[in-house]
Amino acid sequence: MAKITVIGSSSMDLVVTAPRRPNKGETILGESFKTVPGGKGANQAVAAARLGAEVYMVGCVGGDAFGKTILDNFKENGVSTTYVEPVTHSESGTAHITLADGDNSIIVVKGANNYVTPDFVENALDVIRISDIVLIQQEIPEDTVKYVSEKCHEFGVPLLLNPAPARPISKGVIENAAYITPNESEAAILFENQDIHVVLAQYPNKVFITEGKNGVRFHDGEKEVVVPSFPVEAVDTTGAGDTFNAAFAVALAEGNSFEKSVRFANRAASLSVTKFGAQGGMPTRKEVEESV
Ligand code: RIB
Repeated sequence: MAKITVIGSSSMDLVVTAPRRPNKGETILGESFKTVPGGKGANQAVAAARLGAEVYMVGCVGGDAFGKTILDNFKENGVSTTYVEPVTHSESGTAHITLADGDNSIIVVKGANNYVTPDFVENALDVIRISDIVLIQQEIPEDTVKYVSEKCHEFGVPLLLNPAPARPISKGVIENAAYITPNESEAAILFENQDIHVVLAQYPNKVFITEGKNGVRFHDGEKEVVVPSFPVEAVDTTGAGDTFNAAFAVALAEGNSFEKSVRFANRAASLSVTKFGAQGGMPTRKEVEESV
């Protein structure tokens, strides 16, 4: 069983479904409001656990009702919360999501996720050291991403960096990470003013660009490869990227080839968008296998 540590955010998603987005200064009537567990880190932890991995979450929740719901959700999905800390003087992270015009727009308020500092992560070095792979994203402090990249490099544990939301990343972090999975707009920020085809060739089997419906592009050391996605009727695309990253990590940790791992991850991500909520459609291992 793949042992995976996820270091990242845990939030509540406050989701409004509306016929369209309001203009500046305008009030419109929405159709529904739901609160569901989210946060890129938590989403990736839950997705990996549903796919059969042994998962350790390293993160912080607030000492509020949302924090309790987030912790319960980890437990229900078989994610270890040994390294998840309730922060009593902070509110839980929240993501304010509007679903309209067939896509989402999101404002994240980090709250307790700001407390996922290098000092906090130090408490989890024992589990990081023995992980098959570590997953990290960018809804936690920048220093933490740098610290984890250095520790993973020192321990020889592969780090999968999902650089979302986008921010510029130091050369050191890029070098320390084993895998980096930006979407197209994140890649443009990470590798500003660089030809993306040159970047891919410079980082073979390391930079995997997710291009939504087009699939995933990477360089295999000899040539550029695009692994196509699986066409589905999308209900809610929130969390598709998180499902991709988790499934990719699981498949890599199980020793599969890059191409096979991307195909498995594309399949899991395509299933994830067929239901409402970031975690609502995240498939189990059986569901991915039966979809082939
Ligand atoms: O990647 C999707 C996630 O991004 C949502 O669950 C929301 O919490 C935002 O952080």
